[in-house]
Parts: sequence; C-alpha cells; structure tokens
Amino acid sequence: MKSIVILTGAGISAESGLKTFRDSDGLWEGYDIAEVATPEAWQRNPALVQEFYNMRRKSVLEAKPNEAHYALAKLEDKFNVTIITQNIDDLHERAGSTNVVHLHGIITRSQSSINPNLTYPINGWEIKMDEVCELGSPLRAHVVWFGEAVPMIEKAAQICDGAEIFILVGSSLAVYPAAGLIDFVPRHTPKYIIDPKIPYLSDSSFIRIEEKASVGVPQLVNELLTDDLDS
Ligand code: APR
Repeated sequence: MKSIVILTGAGISAESGLKTFRDSDGLWEGYDIAEVATPEAWQRNPALVQEFYNMRRKSVLEAKPNEAHYALAKLEDKFNVTIITQNIDDLHERAGSTNVVHLHGIITRSQSSINPNLTYPINGWEIKMDEVCELGSPLRAHVVWFGEAVPMIEKAAQICDGAEIFILVGSSLAVYPAAGLIDFVPRHTPKYIIDPKIPYLSDSSFIRIEEKASVGVPQLVNELLTDDLDS
C-alpha cells in the first residue's frame, strides 16, 4: 500500500467549533498565548493555566469530528496512512484514524509537571490543582508549550521523509519546528494543501485546494481512492 502522510493544524477542527490560533486578533479564546501556554506562565500562575486548559478540554470533549476528519479516516481502506497533527484535540481518533502522531501533545491526558514522559488518562474534563503524579508533583495538561521541546519531531520528520503522497490541511505554518516538516517530504512526492486562506509556501510544487477542510478534504480523498482503484 502507498503511504500517505497528512499534516494537520487548527484549521481542520475549526468547523467542529474549535477556534484556530491566528485567524482572529492574535488572542486565543480571549487569552494572550504567552500568558497561558509557556513554562513561565505555569510558574507565575499555575491555577490560571490549569483553568485555561480545563476549559479547552471541556470544549474538545463537547466537539465532534467533522467531514474532514472522517474522510481522512476512510483513506486507511486503501493507503498506509499517518496523520501528524499539531492539534491537541482527539478528533482524528474519534473519527476512526488509527495512526495519529500528536506533535503538541493531547489535551485528554495529563502530564507530570516535572517529568514530561509521565502522562495519564484524565477522568472527566478537569485536572484539579491537588492532583499529583507518581513523583508527587502537580499534574498539568499533556501539551507542548512555547519554549518547550517537541519530543515527537524527529519521528515526524522520518515519517515525512517516507511520504509517497503528502497532504497539508489547515495550518498557517507559523510555528516551528512543525512548519519545517514539509522540507523533509521527498521532492517528487505529490503534495497537496487544503486551506481557505493558503499561507505562504516556499515550495511551489504544492497542488493548492483553496477550500474549507470539510469541502476540500472529502473531495481529495474521493479522488485519491478512485485513482487508486484505477491504477
Ligand atoms: N478549513 C481549513 N483550514 C482552515 C479553516 C477551515 N475551515 N479555517 C481556517 N483555516 C486555516 C487558516 O487559514 C490558517 O491557515 O487554518 C490555519 C490555522 O492556522 P493557525 O491558527 O496558526 O493554527 P496552526 O497552524 O495549527 O498553529 C500551529 O500554533 O499556537 C500554536 O501549538 C499551537 O499547534 C498550534 C500551532
């Protein structure tokens, strides 16, 4: 089976009701990212950071996958599919995708505040301030903050290097190292981008589908599944 690698960003979950980061005025859900998504913010005001991610988790649990998530799951019928997502929601998994790499973590798990390798499932939507990991440190959301290492990046780069078809959906490519992943995709691999406002791309070989994810992704998936039947 041919391998397809899909890199997704906040845009794929926009139509599920989860806000993107950079479509509005630089604030995310009314917050300055630096005030809630950095190790310094956690040092300064852990309760605020906890509360912020508890609210985000609540929204994620209430959201449902959309047509784009479901279409990507369907690709597994005919292709060897890996989704690399920058999103901290679990909508790809809930739509049925079985091979998802979460570059920036996943909000449905908690993480030790002193050892990022210790992660746990969360009962319900809330992490309470008195909950601790097995080392006795407070639990926080299992997400990668600005200024923290991105442990999955090397694995993700290797996956991109093996892509026979590459699809980018709903990312402004403003955040590194994730944005640099497209440089690991082999030169002659067919590449597609689906975004209603396509960001600047240094690579001009991308086939541009200027549509919302719920329209563009099912269309492309149908084409790929049909082409595969023909070949
Ligand atoms: N369908 C597809 N794309 C969409 C849609 C939609 N319905 N709506 C918006 N978009 C596109 C926007 O045009 C934009 O290019 O999604 C992109 C969203 O970009 P960002 O908000 O910057 O999100 P993302 O690229 O995922 O951000 C990367 O930044 O703050 C961090 O860690 C956070 O993972 C996040 C990272």
